[in-house]
Amino acid sequence: MKQAVQNLLDTASNEVSGLGDDQKALDQARVKFLGRKGELAQLFKELGKVPEQERREAGRILNEAKAKLEAIFSDALENSRRLAAGKRESIDVTVPGRKPQQGRLHPITQVALEITRIFNWLGFETVEGPEIELDYYNFEALNIPKDHPAREMQDTFYISEDVVLRTHTSPIQVRTMEKRRPPIRIIAPGRTYRCDSDVTHTPMFHQVEGLMVGKGVCFGDLKGILTTFVHQMFGHDVGLRFRPSFFPFTEPSAEVDIQCVMCRGQGCRVCSQTGWLEILGSGMVDPEVYKYVGYDPEEVTGFAFGMGIERIAMLKFGIDDLRLFFENDLRFLNQF
Ligand code: FA5
Ligand code: MG
Repeated sequence: MKQAVQNLLDTASNEVSGLGDDQKALDQARVKFLGRKGELAQLFKELGKVPEQERREAGRILNEAKAKLEAIFSDALENSRRLAAGKRESIDVTVPGRKPQQGRLHPITQVALEITRIFNWLGFETVEGPEIELDYYNFEALNIPKDHPAREMQDTFYISEDVVLRTHTSPIQVRTMEKRRPPIRIIAPGRTYRCDSDVTHTPMFHQVEGLMVGKGVCFGDLKGILTTFVHQMFGHDVGLRFRPSFFPFTEPSAEVDIQCVMCRGQGCRVCSQTGWLEILGSGMVDPEVYKYVGYDPEEVTGFAFGMGIERIAMLKFGIDDLRLFFENDLRFLNQF
């Protein structure tokens, strides 16, 4: 019996080492040796034929053999599983890499950065203000009292009677002058909101406010700075005009138009057939505004402007519908 058991164990380990990591074959071999009708079971059957006095010892040998066989198979199966997992996880260094998708800045952000870069270069410091604004800063301190007809110029989203989504970046003029004394030279980019929608208007859009206040600042400075800006942004041959206008917080006031780049001034739907596109409002700060911030209009003068970033982006990139910027269509955005 002892000899038979030893033979069985030897055959089993030989067979197992010949099977390598073939899990199916290992399972089959396991059944062959350890199954209910397997080779070990055959030996157990012979136990009855063993003489009574040796039977106890033979039983012990057989049980020991069973434990050894089970260990042989579980080790081999465990090994083969590990090998298979290793194969799956191994790194093939010759496979071409997957390129990570590269993000980029939204075209409006690109243009906003370009605008602020130019004004920073001209000596203007960048500041910011809140998008949810008090009626006082958005209107009142800009010489637009309640019930003033000028409020009709901007369709306002009201949050409450005294709180609005800012309709322009001009409240930052007042906030800045309240905190500082002249000379002041700031630029303030940000989101603005109006109840408005067509090819050149969206309900949320961006403006950049500019303000320069000091001794002897005049309309010539305003013209010079804005002309320099347009030349830096669009090159020297783009047409540019200052058109008389009205704002309650500037006097005199002018709007700046640049030649429509879509039609080169011929007239199209973007410029409403005029050949020109308005990009900003501007003017000399009205002395009334200085009263709200405690400046002496006899001492200092200044100019301010507010430009639409989307308009500049349309002209810069040749886009004929402003709403495209906010539809988040990747086919559109990937072009910038
Ligand atoms: C103003 O908002 C004044 N605060 C500008 C100003 C500042 C004048 C400082 C004087 C001194 P206006 O409403 O015209 O002005 O808007 C300025 C610019 O914002 C426009 O020229 C246009 O380029 C842009 N804009 C106005 N409404 C929209 C809109 N709904 N969508 C996209 N751009 C707009
Ligand atoms: Mg306007």
